[in-house]
Amino acid sequence: MAERRSAQWYGGSDRNAYIHRAWMRRGLPANAFDGRPHIAIANTASDLTPCNAHLNEVAGSVARGVYEAGGIALNLPVVSLGETLVRPTAMLWRNMAAMAIEEMLRANPIDGVVLLGGCDKTIPALLMAAASVDLPAVVIPGGPMLTGTFRGAALGCGTDVWRLSEDVRAGTLTERDFVESESSMIRSRGHCNTMGTASTMAIMAEALGTTIPGLAGTPAPDSRLLEASHATGRLAVELVEQDRRPSSLLTRGSFLNAIVALAAVGGSTNAVVHLLAIAGRLGIELTLDDFDRTGAGVPLLVDLQPAGRFLMDDLYRAGGPLAVLREVRDLLDPAAMTVTGRPLVDHLEDARIWDPEVIRSRSTPLQEEAGIAVLYGNLAPTGAVIKPAAATPELLKHRGRALVFDSIEDFRARIDDPDLDVDADSVLVLRGCGPRGYPGMPEVSNLPLPSKVLRQGVRDMVRICDGRMSGTAYGTVVLHVTPEAAADGPLGRIRTGDMISLDVAARRLEVELSDDELSRREPAPAAVAAFAAPARGWERLYVDTVRQADSGADLDFLVGSSGSQVARDSH
Ligand code: FES
Repeated sequence: MAERRSAQWYGGSDRNAYIHRAWMRRGLPANAFDGRPHIAIANTASDLTPCNAHLNEVAGSVARGVYEAGGIALNLPVVSLGETLVRPTAMLWRNMAAMAIEEMLRANPIDGVVLLGGCDKTIPALLMAAASVDLPAVVIPGGPMLTGTFRGAALGCGTDVWRLSEDVRAGTLTERDFVESESSMIRSRGHCNTMGTASTMAIMAEALGTTIPGLAGTPAPDSRLLEASHATGRLAVELVEQDRRPSSLLTRGSFLNAIVALAAVGGSTNAVVHLLAIAGRLGIELTLDDFDRTGAGVPLLVDLQPAGRFLMDDLYRAGGPLAVLREVRDLLDPAAMTVTGRPLVDHLEDARIWDPEVIRSRSTPLQEEAGIAVLYGNLAPTGAVIKPAAATPELLKHRGRALVFDSIEDFRARIDDPDLDVDADSVLVLRGCGPRGYPGMPEVSNLPLPSKVLRQGVRDMVRICDGRMSGTAYGTVVLHVTPEAAADGPLGRIRTGDMISLDVAARRLEVELSDDELSRREPAPAAVAAFAAPARGWERLYVDTVRQADSGADLDFLVGSSGSQVARDSH
């Protein structure tokens, strides 16, 4: 048997090995150091991340599985990010969480790791870290919450918040009713129950092969989550014994499989930046164009909010993500492996659709083509994305006057002005929301419509932004425009009144200005003023080193892997 990594700390009889063992013997027996795999449970449980608050119970099941298989389980609390609470945006901290988790996995005497995530940024950060440290790793997505109801109707968290708040602004719902719905929104433990970013990233983890197949989408309160967590603990020990690492498991084919899954389930646009960042950690070539090339022709098979009607609980009942993947099996890379040691496609044999309303068959899709479209043009020279499945079909080809806002504060100050020069054909442009500009690339791109237009019954307009959009949101929104305004992208040079044309079928996003005119223009002073570089701390490091959205918005020096070796000891 090859020497365990943990034996570099615990093996031998010298002073350092004595110190390492002695302190750990508070609870561990002497035979804990006889060569058994030491498995960290990287746990993002936190009271301030409500979506992940139940993960301590999940960790208990993992630990029992680890011990049953002959390993040693070690709880490792790691940076947690609660999407709804953390300011200015959880995305600012994704890379910090990934860096901190990577370093703690490397710094500690462990042989493998079980990654417990849920809320939007937690699974991406965990996978980025595991990829860079390259220890045997397996993901447990914490699972979605159960469906809440308000006055007899199901509430999709996130999606219905946007809808209800727009109803209040349009005058069709009272504020009192709006607030009353609040207690019905979050019915149980677990993450958002729409096909938002958390649900999407759980499915991405499964499509990549990093979970026990069939686990993604298991509702957080479902007892089968604990059963699968126990099995995952056992599997973690096997991963160490077989030396199955992210670098030996994940291939370009795994990522292309994830892109197929992303389209088939109508997943969040946020998956684009997260998958690009994870691939970057592994040195796997993946580009924005892969999302369009591989995903564009994939049919939408899942009728879930925000694009459709149902919620995650329904998806699980209807057969879960594996039943969806079975329908598009011919589009998957048959060689892409999973943590089980078998290819993903092998695990699709027994999957079935139990409710064809929720999961459509390949022959009756909700939409023929559901992938994320990548747009280019003089307004987005290195790319922008749009999710056509969440957009209004008539707006996918549109020409209109730009109404430009230099920051989200500028937008909030003016959007409900009754004298605002805006109509349903206007194109709302928000800049200063990219990775550098905000900083952190917040989910503000699904701009609320001007109340003047809402009162006319309009419910969607073309919006363009260098930020992101919540995976629970919908609308004709062009996102992730690169280069962002704060990186001297053309978005910083356009003015209110410029004509903008969007043509999703042709994959074009243009401002009707000559190259000469565009390059002659100075960036708008207000857009430059809105970007004040932070003086110190993480924000300073982030702004100085963050890459643009088209390459995953990771820090430039975190791309790639450092492996698990640590050259020097602490004593
Ligand atoms: Fe945590 Fe939506 S707020 S997943």
